[in-house]
Amino acid sequence: MKTTATFKEMKREKEKITMMTAYDAPSAKHLEQAEVDMILVGDSLGMVVLGYDSTIPVTVDDMVLHTKAVKRGARNTFVVTDLPYLSYHADLTETFVNAKRLMQEAGANAIKLEGAGEVIETISKLTTAGVPVVGHLGLTPQSVAVMGGYKVQGKELEDARALREDAHALEAAGAFALVLECVPDSLAALISEELSIPVIGIGAGADTDGQVLVYHDVIGYGSAHVPKFVKTYANVSDVIQEAVDQYVHDVKSRQFPEDKHRFTMNEEVLAGLYG
Ligand code: KIV
Ligand code: NA
Repeated sequence: MKTTATFKEMKREKEKITMMTAYDAPSAKHLEQAEVDMILVGDSLGMVVLGYDSTIPVTVDDMVLHTKAVKRGARNTFVVTDLPYLSYHADLTETFVNAKRLMQEAGANAIKLEGAGEVIETISKLTTAGVPVVGHLGLTPQSVAVMGGYKVQGKELEDARALREDAHALEAAGAFALVLECVPDSLAALISEELSIPVIGIGAGADTDGQVLVYHDVIGYGSAHVPKFVKTYANVSDVIQEAVDQYVHDVKSRQFPEDKHRFTMNEEVLAGLYG
């Protein structure tokens, strides 16, 4: 099992870190088999598997349930779980209760929190308490209503400076890695260069220390719209649709089940039923 130290070492050795989301046991198993470095149980599960149109409705219970499933599918892979919307802002006691559930009850190896400001102090307290934390800056989907949409962040000088300062503050607070989402590649490169903790990019160009993508986007499963920064490696939705269409057709047309799919019983027992 890799550790937070492994990831820092990978950055020093300039080995790219691979991260992908998973929300259930079979997807986690595929990722472990592919030797992905880190699995993220992202609150994106609200959109990609629960059918919500944002991450806002996702609860700590949801994250616990899906993290448990992921851990069962990938027992030897480092798993990071998102603390969901408004589960780490109100007061520190509540934040600790939620972090504890993800670490103890669900078995996460680390947690991820979005944003800066007061969240930085929270990250410092969690780290001091022994909870490994990943920061998340740039486009932070839990704040989409405040940001006014899913937009690239840090394009203007003032925003870019603020983002860079926040990144340094997160490192100083003890975060062991940082996810940078939807920022210009040159800004992401600068921040990756300056920080000693690994920067994992999504829509942040090629010069971050690692990359993260959503499982369903990578395999082309269920996602109607994929953002510009995604590379889709397969079209699993088409394969699934073809299979279920064929199943429905085969049952209606009596082509399924066939003899080989049935169970038979002893003729005498059968005769007894009629006798
Ligand atoms: O929830 C998620 O999938 C994420 C990644 C996009 C970084 O936070
Ligand atoms: Na997330």
